[in-house]
Amino acid sequence: MDKEFVKKHFVERFGCEGVAYASPGRINLIGEHTDYNGGFVFPGAVDKGMIMVIKPNGLDKVRAFAIDIDPKDEAPYVEFGLNEEDKPAEAWACYVFGVCREMQKRGVEVKGFDTAFAGDVPLGAGMSSSAALESVFAFALNEIYGEGKIDKFELARVGQSTEHNYTGCNCGIMDQFASVFGKAGCLMRLDCRSMEFEYFPFEPKGYRLVLVNTNVKHKLGDEYNQRRRSCEHVVEVLKPNYPGIETLRDVTWEMLEEAKALVPEVDYRRAKYVLGEKDRVLAVCDALEKGDYETVGAKMYETHWGMSKDYEVSCVELDFLAEVAKECGVTGCRVMGGGFGGCTINLVKDELYDNFVETAKAKFTAEFGHAPLVYDVVIGDGSRKLD
Ligand code: GLA
Repeated sequence: MDKEFVKKHFVERFGCEGVAYASPGRINLIGEHTDYNGGFVFPGAVDKGMIMVIKPNGLDKVRAFAIDIDPKDEAPYVEFGLNEEDKPAEAWACYVFGVCREMQKRGVEVKGFDTAFAGDVPLGAGMSSSAALESVFAFALNEIYGEGKIDKFELARVGQSTEHNYTGCNCGIMDQFASVFGKAGCLMRLDCRSMEFEYFPFEPKGYRLVLVNTNVKHKLGDEYNQRRRSCEHVVEVLKPNYPGIETLRDVTWEMLEEAKALVPEVDYRRAKYVLGEKDRVLAVCDALEKGDYETVGAKMYETHWGMSKDYEVSCVELDFLAEVAKECGVTGCRVMGGGFGGCTINLVKDELYDNFVETAKAKFTAEFGHAPLVYDVVIGDGSRKLD
């Protein structure tokens, strides 16, 4: 991420200097589609993200420049007001607008500002470029207009509400949480029901984490929301008999079997994946404490095939990469993030790394006609001011 690059564009466009902020994308070791089910997740921020430069402009509108946007896709420069009816047409600008509105709803008097931003989290790769974008604006607006009065949990919720209310994705809290709270060298184990979390230093000796990007782009929307509804449906049908349950977090395997006759097969299968994933996250925590990476890896493969066959959020390219990883002796591999494209996350022994990366690139290219991109994972810091 290059701060000077964004600053230069800001000065060129607005003729003055602004202040720079950064927020990262994230990885997730395990615990996928568990966040909105009240379960555990295991994310970490990465060293890639969004850099944004901002300065109040004394007007009643935002003037925003998305440096990376190709004008063939959408207008990279947009102006919009700060009232509900001022929602811009450009998809990228809705994230910025949504954050402004959500901050206002929380009592922050956001006024007009100029901004330019750019990022190096690949879009649609399942590394949550959108959470990076939301978090960088939430963090900066809180400093500039809110005297820092909104706490970090609420800043994460600002991003999540932006997704719910302005982009149509009914996401959980994991991505925004990871972007705001990230810490170099640490994964975070977050209980999405209580929001308690702990930092978990992650330095697997002899192993590396590497992402392989299929370049199949995804935008989480209807498909994601449908999965969430299936989970909620299973909870609803069980409630009359178990009034205490709120999410799949509270549902046992026995209860799930009771629900089987009451819901469509697809809802049952999706809930089955989530219950399995709850168990896997706990098993992985346990294994990590013992330094047992073989178990961690085995659970990652289980997650992959659960996401593929039961939750149905994988795609042929991701399944192909999981198979190649297995053939190459990779310890763990699975689709990361919401799914429907994006990256696999791989836990690889140092000595197998070169062969795996080469083989994955060659086989994938032969099968699909384009090369996958490979990123070594570096676990970085969360939202912050840069100068
Ligand atoms: C997306 C959502 C998250 C989470 C993951 C799947 O990244 O934004 O809230 O549900 O998918 O684990």
